[in-house]
Amino acid sequence: MTKITIKKILKKKNKSNITCLTAYSKNIAQIIDKYCDIILVGDSLANVLYGMKNTKEIKLDTMILHGRTVKNATKRSLVVFDMPYNTYSNKFLAYKNAKKVMSLTKCDGIKLEGGKKIVNIIKYLTKKGIPVMGHVGLLPQTSSSFKVKGRKSLQRKHIFEDAMTISKSGAFAMVIECVVESLAKIITKNSSIPTIGIGASKYCDGQILVTDDMLGLSSYFPRFVKKYLDLNKLIDKSVKNYVKDVKMRKFPSWKNTYK
Ligand code: KIV
Repeated sequence: MTKITIKKILKKKNKSNITCLTAYSKNIAQIIDKYCDIILVGDSLANVLYGMKNTKEIKLDTMILHGRTVKNATKRSLVVFDMPYNTYSNKFLAYKNAKKVMSLTKCDGIKLEGGKKIVNIIKYLTKKGIPVMGHVGLLPQTSSSFKVKGRKSLQRKHIFEDAMTISKSGAFAMVIECVVESLAKIITKNSSIPTIGIGASKYCDGQILVTDDMLGLSSYFPRFVKKYLDLNKLIDKSVKNYVKDVKMRKFPSWKNTYK
């Protein structure tokens, strides 16, 4: 078992695809750790786990609890902590919160959403020794529209410029979320750091999905999600069978009973 480091992630650019998934809990982290290069403790847990309306509602301390749980359950993958909304609105606040996150969770790096607007924050954090992953394209923390990006030329230009800025900011990788294929391709070609796509085509240097989505546990499935399992259906069937067994006194059987 060799630990995935940031150096190894950087070396994968133009060589082999980087594999990433999200995790919020010990059980999921332990499985993913065997296969993925990067585990993201995503702020998507606001919607996915806590049923909040959007990611803006999740608090730093709640994220820290999940970050520590995932990191403790992980031996191999690089664990990245998603900084929640409003925790990095200026470089001093960002550093204070990032330091707290790194010391309490022991995660390997943090992720921040944004392009040119946050470049000074990324530069400041990386100079202070905090590894940062960027995130461009659709930005769930601040976006008002959850539509694919990069079809209109002005929007395409802005996202490309954001990505190039992040590429030179000191960040070690960047997520590209929900952009058209041609834009993801040109960003990846021109970026010196690896790009990790979610809804951003096969041309990125790696891919990430929300684990609950690819397992079929979520109730929301955008086009870019491939369901590898219909866990929702399996859980439904199992709960139905359990309830039936209890009602018919088939559970617990002798196998589940102490004598
Ligand atoms: O919060 C999250 O899970 C993310 C991924 C969708 C990239 O940011």
